[in-house]
Amino acid sequence: MRKSYFTVRPTSGALGAELADIDLSQPLDDAAATDIRAAFNEYGVIFFRDQRLTPEQHIGFANRLGTININRFFKPVDGYPQIAEVRKEPDQVTNIGGGWHTDHSYDQIPALGSILLALEVPPRGGDTLFCNMGLAYDALSAGLKRTLEGLRAVHSSRHVFGASTEHSKTVTGRIGNPELATQDAVHPVVIRHPDTGRKILYVNMAFTTHFEGWTKQESQPLLDYLYQHASRPEFHTRFQWKDGSIAFWDNRATWHYALNDYHGERRLMHRITLEGVPIN
Ligand code: SIN
Repeated sequence: MRKSYFTVRPTSGALGAELADIDLSQPLDDAAATDIRAAFNEYGVIFFRDQRLTPEQHIGFANRLGTININRFFKPVDGYPQIAEVRKEPDQVTNIGGGWHTDHSYDQIPALGSILLALEVPPRGGDTLFCNMGLAYDALSAGLKRTLEGLRAVHSSRHVFGASTEHSKTVTGRIGNPELATQDAVHPVVIRHPDTGRKILYVNMAFTTHFEGWTKQESQPLLDYLYQHASRPEFHTRFQWKDGSIAFWDNRATWHYALNDYHGERRLMHRITLEGVPIN
C-alpha cells in the first residue's frame, strides 16, 4: 500500500481541507510534494496547523511546491526578499487583503498560489474567507455561461497599488513601489484550470476593471452581479488562524478575503507567492 503523508479533513462542503499529521519543517520527498499538490488541486485551499517555520523552512517548503515569485508591492521581510509581510499593527485601521480578491490577476501570467504563515494572530478575529470560483461558475445558468464564454476582462494593478490611490494611502509603509503599478492584463472571464481542466469564473472586485471592448459603465452591472453571486456562503470556507497555521490557496480557482475585525490588536503573517503558468 502507498504511504500516506497526511490526514485530510475537509473544512466545508465547498472547498478547503486541513492536512494534519505532517511536519513541514522537515524536507519533503517528491511523493509528499506530489500528494500536497494533488490535495491543493482537489480542495482549492489547504491548511496546516502548528507549523512554526523559520523563514528558511518556509522558503524550503515553497521551493518544493513551485517557483517563488517576488512580490513588487509588499514590504519584504528583512533579509528575505522572497517573503512578503502581511502586517496590521494595533494602531492601524486598514488591513491588507480586506475584500474579495485573487492575488496577481493583474499579471498576464497570474500567480499559482500563495503560502501564508501566521506568526502572530489576534486573540479573536482576523479569520480569512475563501471562495470556490469553480462552484460559482457551475451554479450560473446555461444562458449566462454562454454569454461569459465569449468575454475577456481587463485586470489592473494601477488603481490599487499605484501612487495616490485610496488603498496606497491607507497602507503606507506596508505597500510600496507605486511606480511599478503598470500592469494591465487581459484574461478570459471563464478560464480552464491549468491542472484540473475545471472551468472557473475568473473576475474579482479588487483588480478587474471592465470587459474588453466594453466601457466601465457597461461592464459594472454584470460584474456586480457576478460578485454578488460568488458571495453566496455555500461557495465558501472560513479559516480561523492560530500562531503557526498555514494556508496555501490556489489563485486561479479561489478568491480570498482577510477579515478586518480585530482593531487594536496585531496580526502578522509571512506570505510566499508561487509563479503560475499561462491561463489564456
Ligand atoms: C492576502 O490577501 O494575501 C492576505 C490574506 C490574509 O491576511 O488573510
